[in-house]
Amino acid sequence: MYFKSFVALIAASAVSAAPAIKLARNVQPWQITRLYTHTPSGRPGNDPHSTLNITITDPNTIPAGQSPTGQAVFPPTSANCSLQYLTNEDVPWGVEQSCTTDDNTKAYSTWIFTINKPAEGAAYASENFDLSFKLVDYVHLPGQEVTKTFTGGDHFEVGDNMSGQCGGSGVCNWNLNDTPYDIQQTEAEA
Ligand SMILES: *[C@@H]1O[C@H](CO)[C@@H](O)[C@H](O)[C@H]1NC(C)=O
Ligand SMILES: *[C@@H]1O[C@H](CO)[C@@H](O)[C@H](O)[C@H]1NC(C)=O
Ligand SMILES: *[C@@H]1O[C@H](CO)[C@@H](O)[C@H](O)[C@H]1NC(C)=O
Repeated sequence: MYFKSFVALIAASAVSAAPAIKLARNVQPWQITRLYTHTPSGRPGNDPHSTLNITITDPNTIPAGQSPTGQAVFPPTSANCSLQYLTNEDVPWGVEQSCTTDDNTKAYSTWIFTINKPAEGAAYASENFDLSFKLVDYVHLPGQEVTKTFTGGDHFEVGDNMSGQCGGSGVCNWNLNDTPYDIQQTEAEA
């Protein structure tokens, strides 16, 4: 009961009046709070999929526009982005993938990520890759549709900023070393 009304309050403040919410004057960077890859051993009985899992957060409260009851805002939002593949040849390089956005903000915030081949070295989705992220904030206010699009990304590489270990059976687990890690986003032209 308590939880339900709490969620409703957050949601209401996002799309209607929110005079009490202080708007961020300076945009804070996105933060990757978690990033890891898992490659299974080839042993029978194991899930054969390799995984890349990322959690990303936009800590900003972003002004959306005026509603009849006050300033509407997009509240902070976070998402889990997950890629599962069988072999490195199956990796959808350059293809946009949906992330799972948290329930409180998914009605107006959409996160998308793309894994891209790195500028240097062989592309491996577990060890050497680029990621780009896109956040699309959308709300329908009386008389206007507001869409704000932000993008950002970086390079990720075992040895440079990911570490972990491989086992004798072929299983490997790598993590981003320093989290939270800042990703400087830019707002796309409307
Ligand atoms: C990665 O995330 C997906 C989706 O949330 C989850 O099902 C999966 O168990 C995670 N993989 C690992 C290796 O933690
Ligand atoms: C992301 O995954 C973590 C760990 O499984 C979970 O606690 C969290 O609620 C998830 N967040 C979203 C936005 O799905
Ligand atoms: C990883 O290291 C490379 C090379 O030093 C650098 O270009 C990149 O920005 C770093 N990325 C992260 C997530 O730390």
